Amino acid sequence: MKHDEAANRINELTAILEKANYEYYVLDNPSLSDAEFDRYLNELILLEKEWPDLKSKNSPSNRVGGQVASEFKKIPHKRMMLSLGNVYNEDEVRHFDSSVKDVVGKDSVTYMGEVKIDGLGMSLIYENGELQYCVTRGDGNVGEEVTQNVITIRSIPLRVKEKRPFEVRGEVYMPKASLERLNKEREANGEPLFANARNAAAGSIRNLDSSVAAKRGLEAFWYYLVNAEELGIHKHSDALNYLDELGFRTNHERRLLNGPSEMLSYIEEYGKKRESLDYDIDGLVFKVDNLDSYDSIGYTAKTPKWATAYKFPPSEVTTKLLDIFITIGRTGRVTPNAVLSPVRVQGSTVQRATLNNEDFIKEKGLMVGDIVVLRKAADVIPEVVRPLPEKRDGTQTPWVMPEDCPDCGKKLSKVQGLHYCLNPDCPSRQIEGMIHFASRDAMDIDGMGDKVIEEFFSEGFLSDIPSIYRLYDKMGEIKALDGWSDKSCDSLIDAIENSKTRSLERLLFGLGIKEIGLKTARGLAKRWKNIEDYYELTIDDYMAVPDLGPVSSKSLYDYFHEPANIEKIHALQKEGVNTRYLGDDAVDVDNYFYGKTIVLTGSLERYSRDQMSEILESIGAKVTGSVSKKTDLVIAGPGAGSKLDKAHALGIEVIDEEEAISHLGKYAG
Ligand code: IVH
Repeated sequence: MKHDEAANRINELTAILEKANYEYYVLDNPSLSDAEFDRYLNELILLEKEWPDLKSKNSPSNRVGGQVASEFKKIPHKRMMLSLGNVYNEDEVRHFDSSVKDVVGKDSVTYMGEVKIDGLGMSLIYENGELQYCVTRGDGNVGEEVTQNVITIRSIPLRVKEKRPFEVRGEVYMPKASLERLNKEREANGEPLFANARNAAAGSIRNLDSSVAAKRGLEAFWYYLVNAEELGIHKHSDALNYLDELGFRTNHERRLLNGPSEMLSYIEEYGKKRESLDYDIDGLVFKVDNLDSYDSIGYTAKTPKWATAYKFPPSEVTTKLLDIFITIGRTGRVTPNAVLSPVRVQGSTVQRATLNNEDFIKEKGLMVGDIVVLRKAADVIPEVVRPLPEKRDGTQTPWVMPEDCPDCGKKLSKVQGLHYCLNPDCPSRQIEGMIHFASRDAMDIDGMGDKVIEEFFSEGFLSDIPSIYRLYDKMGEIKALDGWSDKSCDSLIDAIENSKTRSLERLLFGLGIKEIGLKTARGLAKRWKNIEDYYELTIDDYMAVPDLGPVSSKSLYDYFHEPANIEKIHALQKEGVNTRYLGDDAVDVDNYFYGKTIVLTGSLERYSRDQMSEILESIGAKVTGSVSKKTDLVIAGPGAGSKLDKAHALGIEVIDEEEAISHLGKYAG
């Protein structure tokens, strides 16, 4: 075959395969048999092997997966990927409608009602009629490019007839049947099960090996054409119809609704219908249909005001409380936990729930063996609500807090109603302490998560925090463990080495001093810049810090007057861990924001307000909530209102986000 013949045949096969994918996965109406499909696909794969220059980026052969990435590229969203505000009842639905009506000045507004799919938000970018890339939501500003994984979902069009650039957003999800099949397979292989469809979908899309996603039976619905107005579309309903026309899989449970009474009937109807859908939904979404009113209705920092999500009420189920066991946290705090007979609630299987403390169990009157009511709203931790005493059959037994720690055998102590294991050498405390020390906000040791720490502890490679810095000597033995290679050991050593140069605030936080969070640790480190300073401080010194009350001040004092803790710090210093504050040294005091009092207002696009505040504070600015004569600078985004007016009235300098980013320079990250 000649080159141009091959090119023609490749085009032909591409068209046949993509039409077949569309018919099968979007229309649910196949015209090719599986065997015919496979024959065409194999022919394409062979031709592409023979003529590699003819293989296009968007070849249907890429949909089978197999590309293994080393990491996902970070891609900023052109327009922030917003989330939705929530409403929970009739009053709130009516209130949402009234506030929209107030802005648009109409008696009645038309909304699109849609189901809220419980999956993973995704954005697809098309240019010149071709899919360019697929990006996860990430933090809303910056997502990860996961194209190779997403295109294994065969309903997603790789080519479309619309040649103008456009962006479409939707949800990648795992149908209930796929999750069930996957979990059965995992159970048979002794692998941990996925708790719900969303975790399973996210895990599949975030796997670096695209053949994993290809096997997982993922699906997607597309519900938002980001730049509809640029395509001359003025209604959300028309945008969805246009997406249908372009070959996207949209959800057909949608319905145009006129005003709150129709919205409430839609809620009622789908409250009943949701169980029978073959995917999990955690609510419904209402969007104003008229796109032209979106700008005037406006936005809050993270959500549009022209749409809202109705969340279904948490569902309650009953199950058996099989047992109660206690766990010991890093501060020694004892938490009782419920072992439950596995039960499906709100899209996930639950078999554990925290019982908080002894009083919680007493107040609820829980007995081991009780039938209990369990509640879980989507995203919310499962909660044991109450026992059903009428179901008792005499086999139930009261639960009593053990006297001794189950891990180290030492007596538990009761302090202000809560139980603690006060033995600093207790294995559970050591493990939890190391997990906290290595965590992202503390010393940020990449690759040292809870599983690794637990395994190394049980193998005897780790015993306490300083032993992390002696792991180098154990590498020979670690390499012999399952799942460890030269490469993964090297990266772990690098990560441990890097953590030695962290600034004091991370160390103070990482040591796990009771009551001391990251923010407090930052304030402390700026004030007292060497760890040795803390050995001399009195409770009154601490009390003078605005953030610290009597409890945290005493906790700090006690920590630095406990010889075992000082020994631990010395051991860390001996291993070369930095114990000084590096913040101001690392920040160039000539930066534009240094020493200024700044107010952020309106919505920012590239950063969330919290992120922007964090960056500004890290380089010596003070961020406050309201504009006054003391304000030096206001950073204003779209939608800024009274604060901006006040800044103008007071003659305060105002800049926008773009200008702020240019002043940030290297600190913009
Ligand atoms: S619209 C600006 N419609 O729910 C409008 N979102 O809790 C953006 N979701 O981030 C979203 N189904 O990932 C929209 N029919 C639907 C949805 C939906 C699921 C997700 C989406 C969003 C999250 C908000």
